[in-house]
Amino acid sequence: MFEVLPQLAPDPILGLSAAFKQDTNPNKIDLGVGVYKDEQGNTPILSAVAKAQTILLEREKSKTYITPQGVQGFIDGMLGLILGEKSPVLMADRVAAVQAPGGCGSLRILAELLTRVNKDTKVWISDPTWANHIPLMGNAGLSLETYPYFDKATASIRFDAMMDTLRKVEKGDVVLLHGCCHNPTGADLTKEQWQQVVEVAKEREFLPFVDLAYQGFGDGLEEDAYGVRLLCENLPEVIIAASCSKNFGLYRERVGLAAIVTADSATKKIAQAQIQSVARGMYSMPPSYGGALVDIILSDVALKQEWETEVNEMRNRMSTLRSLLVEKLTANGAQKDFSFVNNQKGMFSFLCITPEQVQKMRNEHSVYFVDSSRVNVAGISQANIDDLAKAMVAVINS
Ligand code: LMR
Repeated sequence: MFEVLPQLAPDPILGLSAAFKQDTNPNKIDLGVGVYKDEQGNTPILSAVAKAQTILLEREKSKTYITPQGVQGFIDGMLGLILGEKSPVLMADRVAAVQAPGGCGSLRILAELLTRVNKDTKVWISDPTWANHIPLMGNAGLSLETYPYFDKATASIRFDAMMDTLRKVEKGDVVLLHGCCHNPTGADLTKEQWQQVVEVAKEREFLPFVDLAYQGFGDGLEEDAYGVRLLCENLPEVIIAASCSKNFGLYRERVGLAAIVTADSATKKIAQAQIQSVARGMYSMPPSYGGALVDIILSDVALKQEWETEVNEMRNRMSTLRSLLVEKLTANGAQKDFSFVNNQKGMFSFLCITPEQVQKMRNEHSVYFVDSSRVNVAGISQANIDDLAKAMVAVINS
């Protein structure tokens, strides 16, 4: 019966890994999937995570089911990290939350919850956005619209156009915002721009849906939570999908948090039961392991400190590579000014080159990155940066 299904094209992001593996060029460079890599090109287990694993092995005495919401210590720790320990919405008992299988799992169950509120809910996504936002929202049955976000020609945020669209968004619509380190562009809103988004959300009464997958990779753990905290402190309702894949390096463990800030504590109870019922109908409950590790790290002062240091190191390495790339491109005589790359934040840089140029990088130089021109900065190293800059200049100047 499955022959009736159409053949699918490879996933625009994950498909790159398969193509990269098949390339026999010994000097190939992988700047595709958003996974942190060190100077040697490895994705190591963070040392705080390795220590937490040892503790967990000792501590865990049973594999019986955990509670439907997940590991409570994980939820509390993550809410503190995202919203701040003294967050007014936490103090007012207005936040329902569950552990979910990764950032994707969080996005998907929140999308499903939105369909329970109103099956015709419209979700506004940034143009461009992370490719997987589209199926994660769309497969839940939500209808999608886009708001302008980034202009490739000027390599900057189209903030006026974005605001013009948000001023037309209707009450009850949902606006999906990247909390920090916008994927794919690396272009983040300033504090003043976040303030304006809060104002328009109040005025239009839309629901902000914050995807926070890179906390700590932009300017710092606290700094990267600025936008989400501002929204939560000023609006009655916000929903948040957070991921521990990148900042805890827990990719394959699938660790995420889905949180719903409600208007009051009574509604929180309803939302808590509803989101758990959504999860029950999809996968019952989240896997415990990764959440238990995050719980151990966040509740231990020394381990938390160690983890924060590791996050800072990852961020600083990516930011150094970013400026080094710009330097090398200039030194190699690039006819395009890439200085805008220095203003981008997080794991990704958007090179603002054409899909044809991206294809040439892949086909002629074995450098793999997403067609949109998004590169994973962490895939750059001292060992490959010269080859990368030369290849880019060859493609751009031709
Ligand atoms: C990415 O954007 O590359 C990562 O978030 C991995 C993924 O699942 O797409």
